[in-house]
Amino acid sequence: MLITFSQAISLLRSGQVIAVPTETVYGLAACLDQPQAIEHIFTLKGRPKKNPLIIHLADWKDLSQFVTQYPPNFQALAQTFWPGAFTCILPVNSNVPSIARAALPTAGFRVPDLPLTRHLIKETGPLVMPSANLSGRPSATFPKHVEEDFGLEFPVLEGGTCSKGVESTILFYQEPEWVILRLGAVPPEAFKPILGYEPRVIQKSQENQENQPLCPGQLFRHYAPRARLILGDHPLLADATFVLGFKERPYPRGKRIILLGSLLEPEEVAKNLYQALRQLDQEGANQAWVDMDFPRHGLWQTIAERLIRAGETN
Ligand code: TXA
Ligand code: MG
Repeated sequence: MLITFSQAISLLRSGQVIAVPTETVYGLAACLDQPQAIEHIFTLKGRPKKNPLIIHLADWKDLSQFVTQYPPNFQALAQTFWPGAFTCILPVNSNVPSIARAALPTAGFRVPDLPLTRHLIKETGPLVMPSANLSGRPSATFPKHVEEDFGLEFPVLEGGTCSKGVESTILFYQEPEWVILRLGAVPPEAFKPILGYEPRVIQKSQENQENQPLCPGQLFRHYAPRARLILGDHPLLADATFVLGFKERPYPRGKRIILLGSLLEPEEVAKNLYQALRQLDQEGANQAWVDMDFPRHGLWQTIAERLIRAGETN
């Protein structure tokens, strides 16, 4: 159910959870100072309590009330990438409620690039926002995706479609360097002019999962439609009826082709990605062949990672 800006403010202030647009994906929002609402987010999403949330600010200067220490180059990163699809993990004090950060000594912060979202946060104070999808499902990039997962009555602040379409890129300072904990809408090479190097991407297999994982969220199943995905990198199609592919490519006749976009425009593909995965479910697909024959630099790396995660069966 679409709600107005003033309804969004009063619902959030009264301790309710609502969906809020950002330039990356829709978020399920609660006020940082409403622990019961934060608790409710975990229940609604079916999200493990061990998976911490990102805190969204209207202005990065507001970090000072939470953060105990700033790593090298932090200020340059903040000035360059905020507002934007960059999330920074920083050491924090007890002003960040334990439930929001899964009892970790750090928390993730982001200043979203959508003016509507920042205006809202100015009225409500900092908001925690995981993506507005049931845990494990593709993220939501339209209000109707939120309604698919949480029902028609669920309050959604209308913000149209998300311009980026994939989540923020998460960075963490692991002495002596910044590393990427989650690929996202800002490609790894964008950080090079600021840091002097391209941050490494920490793969979930490189993490010691027994001890504290660096990015708990990466351990859980993600972005998956109900359909089984067959990831192919040459056009030898399996017997799947459905194909996720690109508009320049010819695919065999008789297949139901769901277009991700153009091979020349990774931004467009990122923007369409979750809609395409959700479309498979809308059409009742049991399995789909995914054309993985595309580049692996820049944003394509994020697109490949999301499709691979979406195809995991465990
Ligand atoms: O673009 C985005 O980041 C969206 C929009 C709504 O802002 N939000 C989003 O939130 O993707 P979520 O909850 O779906 O993903 C947050 C990720 C999880 O993988 C979580 O483990 C990680 O951030 N995270 C949060 N706090 C962390 C921390 N203190 N240390 C390591 N990872 C953290
Ligand atoms: Mg998510």
